[in-house]
Amino acid sequence: MLHAQGFVCNANYQKENLYCDVCPEDWPLIVQFCANDPKVFVQAALLAQNYCDAIDLNLGCPQMIAKRGHYGAFLQDEWNLLQRTILLAHKKLSVPVICKICVFPEIDKTEQKGPLSGAAFWEHIKAVWKAVAIPVFANGNIQSLQDVEHCIQDMGVQGVTSTEGNLDNPALFEGRSPAVWKLAKEYLDIMWEHPCPLSYIRAHLFKLWHHTLHVHQQL
Ligand SMILES: Cc1cc2nc3c(=O)[nH]c(=O)nc-3n(C[C@H](O)[C@H](O)[C@H](O)COP(=O)(O)O)c2cc1C
Repeated sequence: MLHAQGFVCNANYQKENLYCDVCPEDWPLIVQFCANDPKVFVQAALLAQNYCDAIDLNLGCPQMIAKRGHYGAFLQDEWNLLQRTILLAHKKLSVPVICKICVFPEIDKTEQKGPLSGAAFWEHIKAVWKAVAIPVFANGNIQSLQDVEHCIQDMGVQGVTSTEGNLDNPALFEGRSPAVWKLAKEYLDIMWEHPCPLSYIRAHLFKLWHHTLHVHQQL
């Protein structure tokens, strides 16, 4: 997620996060902005649209930082503002506009974990899918290729994304669970080709190893 206001005002932010930091393997690519002003969102999107396939407005972030910045899930009740934002973007941009929304009934209920939470999610998403005439992607608690297939079959959505599951097992969408060290090695090989800040590498390796090191604590 990029801050639309920062992106419009700061050439370094543009370079570091998009202009100089995208390689062919990153495509197809969706650039997500948080914004609470239609004009600023569209200004930022116009600057980004030649570097991506679609622009996403973040209406899903439930974190405190989003509350303070008045964006993400904290805009979801401002229907008039959201309508103006999306209509303006739809009119001005040459790439599709997407909205990432948060379906929880209560904003503070941000951590739906455990075996029953998936089903609850899916009923919400199904209701959204039935109510709109545009493609819907589902996300939340997708941990395996079977989850992906069930989700698409059960709901008829056009796509599924995975964040936590995919960070744990980047081969999730291939239906494989390779040994962690193999994934880590492959990841590090990619890092040599496409260098990035050490903190990113540390965070990815932490996610990859997390479960294994919980089980094999002697390691
Ligand atoms: C490390 C991390 C970073 C995330 N960053 C974003 C973000 O920038 N924008 C966004 O809309 N959601 C973001 N999310 C939320 C995920 O896209 C997703 O909606 C959420 O994790 C639930 O899906 P999951 O069960 O597949 O993880 C992030 C989640 C994680 C764990």
